[in-house]
Parts: sequence; C-alpha cells; structure tokens
Amino acid sequence: MNILLTGGAGYIGSHILVELLNAGHYVVVVDNFCNSKIDALHRVQEITGQSFITKKLDLRDATAVEQVFKEHYYDAVIHCAGLKAVGESTQIPLTYYDNNLIGTIYLCKAMAQAGVKTLVFSSSATVYGYPATVPIDEDFPLAATNPYGRTKLFIEELLRDLAVADSSWRISLLRYFNPIGAHPSGRIGENPNGIPNNLLPYMTQVAVGKLPELHIFGNDYPTPDGTGIRDYLHVTDLARGHLCAIEQLTQWAGGMMVHNLGTGRGYSVLEMVNTFEQVTGQAVPYRIVARRPGDIAICYANPQRANQELGWTAQMNLDTMIADSWRWQVNNPHGY
Ligand code: NAD
Ligand code: WQD
Repeated sequence: MNILLTGGAGYIGSHILVELLNAGHYVVVVDNFCNSKIDALHRVQEITGQSFITKKLDLRDATAVEQVFKEHYYDAVIHCAGLKAVGESTQIPLTYYDNNLIGTIYLCKAMAQAGVKTLVFSSSATVYGYPATVPIDEDFPLAATNPYGRTKLFIEELLRDLAVADSSWRISLLRYFNPIGAHPSGRIGENPNGIPNNLLPYMTQVAVGKLPELHIFGNDYPTPDGTGIRDYLHVTDLARGHLCAIEQLTQWAGGMMVHNLGTGRGYSVLEMVNTFEQVTGQAVPYRIVARRPGDIAICYANPQRANQELGWTAQMNLDTMIADSWRWQVNNPHGY
C-alpha cells in the first residue's frame, strides 16, 4: 500500500516507519522536525535497507499539505504528528491547540479533497481522564485533565463528526497507553529534548549518570506499594498495531473504530525501578517526592477489543522493553 505517515521522524512514527517498510509498504513521511531529527529517518533507512520519501513541512501549511496529495496517491494516512508534553501544554495551550487541531484539520481537508479517506489517528489513554475503574474499556466516559489531553479529545470528536457526516471515511482511533522501549538495533529510540517528563527516559538518564536521581512522584496512592501504576508497552508492539488497524480499515466499507493499545497489565513505579535494576545491572537512586499534579493512581487497558477485532496483542515483556530502552540510551548518550 501507499501510506502517508505524519510525524514519521518522531519516537513512535520512526518505529511505525520501520514496520511499514519491513512489510513492503511504500511510505511518504511528512514532519516539520520540531521535536525530532532527520537522523532518525537516515537510521530507519539503514535498519530496513528500504527507501522512502521525506517531506519537511508543517501540517498547518495548507498549501504544502495539499501539494503532498497532488504528488502521490495514498491508500491510507497514519497521523502521528503533534505536540505531546502535558506540562508544556498547560504553559502554552494556544500553541498546542493550534498545532494539534489546525494541523489535523488541514490534513483532513487535503485528504477529503484528494479522495483519500482512510485514516489512523494517534490518540491516547489520556482521553479517559480520571477513570473510575481499571482495566479501561474503550466505551468508558471520556474526559481531559490538561490542554494536551483536550486536543486529543477534540480531535477524536472532530473525526467522529467527519465519519458521521460522510460514511465513506474509514477512521481508526488508537488509544496508546505508555509506550517505552526502542528498536532492538539500538539505532532509533526516544530522544526527549531537555529533561525528560516520562518515567523511562528519566530513569535511563539517571542510570547512565546524566541525572543524579529519580524523583518518584508520590508513594501514597491506593496501590500495593503506594506508587502509580501504568500499562507500559513496547513501541514496536505499538507500531505493529498500526499495521493491523490499516489492514482492518481497508476491508471496511466505512465508519470509525476505536481501540486501546496496551498490554492489560500494570506496573508500579517501584516495580519499574526494581525491574530496571535487575535487567540492566545499573542502580537507579531515587527519592520520593510530592505527587505530580494531574497524575492518576492506576491506568491500564482492557486490550481485548484490539486482540479480537485487530488480531493484535502486545508480545514483548517488560524485561525486553527495558533492555531495549537501555541499549538505545547506552549507544546514544546524546540522542541523535
Ligand atoms: P514525537 O514528538 O517524538 O513525534 C511527533 C512528531 O510530529 C515529531 O517528529 C514532530 O516533529 C512532528 N510534528 C509535530 N507537530 C507537527 C506539525 N505541525 N507538522 C509536522 N510535523 C509535526 O512524539 P511521539 O511520542 O512519537 O508521539 C507521536 C504521537 O503519539 C503524538 O500524536 C502523541 O500525542 C501520541 N501519543 C504519544 C504517547 C507517548 O507516550 N509517546 C502516548 C500517547 C499518544
Ligand atoms: C508514569 C508513572 C508518574 C516520571 C504521560 C502522559 C500521557 C501519555 C503518556 C501522551 C506515573 C511516575 C514519572 C518521573 C515518576 N502521553 N513518574 N517520576 O503520566 O502515565 O502519561 O505519558 O499521550 O498523556 O500524561 O507517563 O511516564 O510521565 O509517568 O515517579 O520522573 O511514573 O507519576 O505514575 P503518564 P509518565
């Protein structure tokens, strides 16, 4: 198939790109590199031995986006491009709404104009807000707790409206839980700017000596050891989920489907630290600090719908996720 991949130079996009190329698809990547480096794409080429087309553009540049659809025909679009830092989104909400919403609107307009109406969207477990129970089903009530989450929620809503207004759209919303890990080659991985916000990149930077200690945000949550529980999944498993979604979508007449991509198992922060130390042999000094505002106690998926409808299951265990994250960190101490 011919696939347009937005945000293909990013952490998740670059891993999706590897899987698409390995499966024999033709891919055009668009990215403005606001949170990524072109080197990621060079390395994907090196890992896969396959070539693909790259276009540097901002999705908010309507003319440039239209041009991409004039130059090539696409069977489907995978839309990963977006800003994703929760804390930053509370500081600069307008930038988040502008980038994530306007970018998606221009992409969808150009798709409609070109008659390409098959879309996979990178959504997030953040759209469940503060879930009342776990595991989380796709039909749980939706809510947002920060501007970033609200952009995901609004995009989901606008795509739902689009699918209702024109039943020839085929849309897949994939709600990612907590992707970690890296390609086993150690050549591509997560490359955060500055001090990482997420647990795994922070932990690897402590273990490698770039940061002095991990701050564990609260040990008074209603969980067995008091620290927060999350559903971590390997980024390559997550990437494979997109190929499963595209396969299903292209057999569909039209409509919208929604799937959780998670393992269905949660680990606490302390379990993550212990497993990290066992797998890597590196100590992770830590200190318990106050809860991080907006954090929830427990979040893990019910992945059954994705198992049954997409034929997708997360296959890699926590040891593999951590070993792969660590290899990436050690081999690339300064990122790309
Ligand atoms: P990332 O920042 O590594 O990748 C996003 C890519 O999009 C970057 O390469 C960036 O340069 C590009 N981009 C951003 N705005 C753009 C624009 N206007 N035009 C063109 N390119 C643009 O992030 P990621 O972790 O790979 O996340 C990918 C998607 O998955 C995002 O939409 C994110 O919200 C979503 N998501 C991520 C996580 C996570 O934990 N990483 C969890 C749930 C959902
Ligand atoms: C995991 C656990 C923290 C860092 C975020 C976004 C979410 C999604 C994924 C995009 C929590 C604890 C963390 C640290 C810590 N992104 N922690 N010390 O918060 O589940 O999800 O990323 O959609 O929208 O909110 O992931 O990795 O930040 O935190 O103790 O330095 O680790 O409190 O329990 P989170 P995370």
